[in-house]
Amino acid sequence: MLLINRINSFYDDVQVLRDLSLDVHEGEVLCLLGRNGAGKTTTLKSIMGIVPPRSGEIMLDDTALHLLPPHEIAGQRVGYVPQGRRLFPQLTVAENLKIGDYARHTADSQRERVLSLFPVLKARLKQKAGTLSGGEQQMLATGRALSVDPVLLLMDEPTEGLQPSMIQLIRDVIIGLKKEGVTTIVVEQRVDAVLQIADRVAFVENGTVPMVVNASELADSDALINRYVGVSHQPLAHGDPPS
Ligand SMILES: Nc1ncnc2c1ncn2[C@@H]1O[C@H](COP(=O)(O)OP(=O)(O)OP(=O)(O)O)[C@@H](O)[C@H]1O
Ligand SMILES: [Mg+2]
Repeated sequence: MLLINRINSFYDDVQVLRDLSLDVHEGEVLCLLGRNGAGKTTTLKSIMGIVPPRSGEIMLDDTALHLLPPHEIAGQRVGYVPQGRRLFPQLTVAENLKIGDYARHTADSQRERVLSLFPVLKARLKQKAGTLSGGEQQMLATGRALSVDPVLLLMDEPTEGLQPSMIQLIRDVIIGLKKEGVTTIVVEQRVDAVLQIADRVAFVENGTVPMVVNASELADSDALINRYVGVSHQPLAHGDPPS
């Protein structure tokens, strides 16, 4: 569904992604795991065309995303929830949702669908985004990404800084979208959260993906997590803490 073939991405003259390849299957939830600075966010930004790769290819089915400008990539029904939400704090909830809509002029029905997923937003349409709570801001960032009626959804640490009930809500949204056939790539630091929703896990290290495994394989072993994420990260909920 999404095929990333040996992309190389840079910030000015500093190379961050190195021949990164990834094959994302239709309808799956794929999790990107890796240490800070490994290149997870840059991978999502490269897919979105915000940091366009200098070489390599990104194919969404038959569409060459790497040849399109960012707004046309969103127009291919790719939704993006950036790390740290990236809302427009001075704009209202309604205006932020509308901005998510710009590429496709989605029908009112899609907006209603988004608001029914996050009823809290419905009551706050006129409130400035900057005055929302952290959890409400994450709902808005997610709702904005859903405005494009995505076939592919990219989420960068959506549960960062959220309390358990909000984490559960975000998870439920991902699971609900999966049932509708949406493909999701989610960056997560919390290994226990990942294993509950991911079909597969791609490890990111030094700007490349050395290994992709089924999530069920990870449940039995801390070794891979220790290797690619590090012992400082949360151990598996049901496993022994890393020694
Ligand atoms: N705008 C930028 N300009 C220059 N370098 C950048 C920029 N954004 C990221 N980098 C560098 O690119 C590398 C990869 O960063 P990236 O944000 O993709 O990592 P990450 O895996 O998402 O990390 P984290 O888990 O901390 O979010 C890092 O060395 C980072 O310092
Ligand atoms: Mg990041």
